[in-house]
Parts: sequence; C-alpha cells; structure tokens
Amino acid sequence: MGLKWVLLFIGLLALGGCRLVFPPPEVQRGEQLYRQYCQSCHGDRSGAGRLPYAPPHNEQGHTWHHSDGNLIALILDGSGPMGEMMRQMQGVPAEAPRMPAFRGLLTEDDARAILAYLKTWWTPEQRRFQERTPMMP
Ligand code: HEC
Repeated sequence: MGLKWVLLFIGLLALGGCRLVFPPPEVQRGEQLYRQYCQSCHGDRSGAGRLPYAPPHNEQGHTWHHSDGNLIALILDGSGPMGEMMRQMQGVPAEAPRMPAFRGLLTEDDARAILAYLKTWWTPEQRRFQERTPMMP
C-alpha cells in the first residue's frame, strides 16, 4: 500500500472522529431546539426528566417507528385524533399533558433539525428501518 493510501485512510478516520466530536450544524441546532421546546416533557437522551405519559425518543422509545413525514406533521400539528385514540387505549388520564402543536412557533426546517438530533439517539438498525418506513395517511 502506497503512502498516498495510508494518508487517505488516516484522513478518513480523522473525518469520522470529527463528526462525533463536532456534529453537523443541523444536529447542533436541533439539540438546542429540543432542549428549549421538548425536553421539559420528553426528558433527555436517557429519558430522565420525562413527564408521565410523554414517551422517550431514544432507542427504547417508539418514535423511530414513524416516517419523517409523519413525525414532522406530529411536531407541527400535535398528535391529533389518532393520538386521542391512543391515549384512550392506554388509559391516559384526560388531564395529563398532550403533545402540543408547534406550528407558528417552529418551522418545518426546525422540526427537521430536531429530528436530525433525535436520530443520533437511535441504533444504526433503527435508522435504516426508519428511513424505509412509509408515510401513514
Ligand atoms: C407539554 C408536554 C410536551 C411537549 C412540550 C412536547 N411533547 Fe411531544 N408528546 C407529549 C405527549 C404527552 C405525547 C404522547 C401523545 C399525546 O398524549 O398527546 C407526545 C408525543 C410525541 C411524539 C410521538 C412519539 C411516538 O412514538 O408516537 C413525538 C415524535 C413528539 N412528541 C415529539 C416532540 C417534540 C419534537 C417536541 C418539541 C418540539 C415535543 N414533542 C414537545 C408531550 C409533549
């Protein structure tokens, strides 16, 4: 193997390391938005600080089962009639907080940035599965 290839290999390794230490700007912005608008109900990556009935978004949660399109709609418009049905099925008390609609407060771009951040919490298998998940009507 020539020196050129060894250097290229080292360069790629360094790039990979940088992505871990310095996440892409969209992910950093998503983390800030998440802390500001979501964490008080959904808790942090480990799920700590979560309100009862607010689901965690980490690899133990259910969030990664939904497509990007459905997740963005849910963030902008709230959980809607489907969410109401799930609450009833799970026996969630009526007065427990609901997933708010963030339209007007957050843009679609903001929702995408938050999602980009949440995806860093999922396993590679979950990310591959979620990428191929079709949008539900
Ligand atoms: C006032 C508390 C509250 C806040 C703030 C909040 N959520 Fe929620 N969220 C909930 C609750 C409760 C649910 C469960 C559905 C329901 O009961 O409405 C939920 C459900 C969700 C779901 C569906 C998860 C699944 O597996 O089906 C997603 C995704 C979500 N929230 C993302 C967010 C994001 C992103 C933010 C910040 C922009 C946010 N939430 C802010 C309370 C909150």
